[in-house]
Amino acid sequence: MNVLNAEFVKGFIRMADDGWQQGWHERNGGNLSYRIKDEEIDSVREELQPGEWREIGTSVPDLAGEYFLVTGSGKYMRNAVIKPEDTICIVELDEKGENYRICWGLVNGGRPTSELPSHLMNHEVKKRVTNGKYRVIYHAHPANTIALTFVLPLTDEAFTRELWEMATECPVVFPGGIGVVPWMVPGGREIAVETSKLMEKYDVAIWAHHGMFCAGEDFDLTFGLMHTVEKSAEILVKVRSMVSEKRQTIQPDDFRNLARDFKVTLPERFLFEKH
Ligand code: 13P
Ligand code: ZN
Repeated sequence: MNVLNAEFVKGFIRMADDGWQQGWHERNGGNLSYRIKDEEIDSVREELQPGEWREIGTSVPDLAGEYFLVTGSGKYMRNAVIKPEDTICIVELDEKGENYRICWGLVNGGRPTSELPSHLMNHEVKKRVTNGKYRVIYHAHPANTIALTFVLPLTDEAFTRELWEMATECPVVFPGGIGVVPWMVPGGREIAVETSKLMEKYDVAIWAHHGMFCAGEDFDLTFGLMHTVEKSAEILVKVRSMVSEKRQTIQPDDFRNLARDFKVTLPERFLFEKH
């Protein structure tokens, strides 16, 4: 099958375009990766032309031999729809999980996203903790979430609680909470290590003064998660622009009642009393 006719490739391109239309991908900002299923890679295998092996820049032994669809470094999300072969690529990892090679795409040269170490280390954690269910890692630069990293304390507790309070469905959509990575130099192994530690317990990691990473089972759930967090952040930015203190809000016991009825577990450490 032609790679561009495969459903997983269509879903990937649609998600890249959805993010662009939300305004989360100025210039080459943001990147997306998908861990391809065996039957999906088999369906396009005749189209693959493996190139040279290159270093990932970290080691992900639990992903050895797997294939990923990823956006290219310096490529624009807005171009994924109109020139996918130039913008995205399929990569294969070697048997140690230390090198990759491009097997399709990036026809005008280039390499996978500079955040490949973060994407792959997050995939490695999520594959383990979800028994292989999670396949999508998404990084974007949504403005309201970034704005809050200049205003809120850079703690998991502060971000989780504030964003839960801003929309009733938030604790149901991300009951595990949100992790925060302090400002770090992007694009390398160090920030990848810190982000993947958070992915052990969260599906969302916020990079201070930079953006957000989300992890999920499929494109809908992962895009929907980013969208929900960012919408909640937008409401908080609006509230804080109007008043310095909320007049009323959802209280810890309200969250406990919601958790019971919606059958989710909300960690008590996010349900502290505020003074
Ligand atoms: P890439 O163009 O290398 O994907 O980088 C964009 C980005 O958002 C870096 O954090
Ligand atoms: Zn970024």
